[in-house]
Amino acid sequence: MYRVSQFCRALVAWVPKRELDLLSEYLTPPQAELFQRMPRCDQRHSLDVFHALRRKQHHDHDLLVAALLHDVGKSGGRLRLWHRVLIVLIKALRPQLLDRLAEDEPRSWRYPFFVHQHHPELGAELAQAAGCSPTTVELIRRHQETLASNPFRSREDKLLAALQEADGVN
Ligand SMILES: [Fe+2]
Ligand SMILES: [Fe+2]
Repeated sequence: MYRVSQFCRALVAWVPKRELDLLSEYLTPPQAELFQRMPRCDQRHSLDVFHALRRKQHHDHDLLVAALLHDVGKSGGRLRLWHRVLIVLIKALRPQLLDRLAEDEPRSWRYPFFVHQHHPELGAELAQAAGCSPTTVELIRRHQETLASNPFRSREDKLLAALQEADGVN
C-alpha cells in the first residue's frame, strides 16, 4: 500500500521554481543539468529525500548531492508510466521476475526494466562524469545495497544509511 501511495504522489508531482533555484547552492551546472534530465516525479522524489535529510540535521554536502541525484540513472531508460506501474506490481508479487525481464539492449522494449534494475550503477557513472565527489558517486552506486548493521560504520556507510532511510520513506 505504501508503494501505491508513493506512486500516486509521483503522478501529481510538482516542483516549484524556488526549489529549483535552491539547486545552484548544491549542484554545479553539469550536475544541475543531470537533475533537470530526470522526469518531474523523480525530481520531486529526490527533493523530498534531500529535504528529509536536512530536517534530520544532515548537512554533509556529499550526502545532499547524492540525495538530489541518486535516481538519475533512471533518466536514460525511457521509463514510462506503464513501466513504473508494472514494476511496482512485479516487486510486490514476484520481484525476481524483474531481473528476468531486464535486457541490456537499448532498442528492446525490455530495456527500461534493465535501466530500472541497474539505475544505481548507471547513475553513479553519470554523477562521476558530471564531476561529483568520489563519496557522492559511491553513495549513488550503493543506494540500494543491503547494508549490514555494524556499530563501527565508516563515514560512507553512515551517510549511506541516512540516504537509504530518507529514500525509503519518500
Ligand atoms: Fe533508486
Ligand atoms: Fe529513490
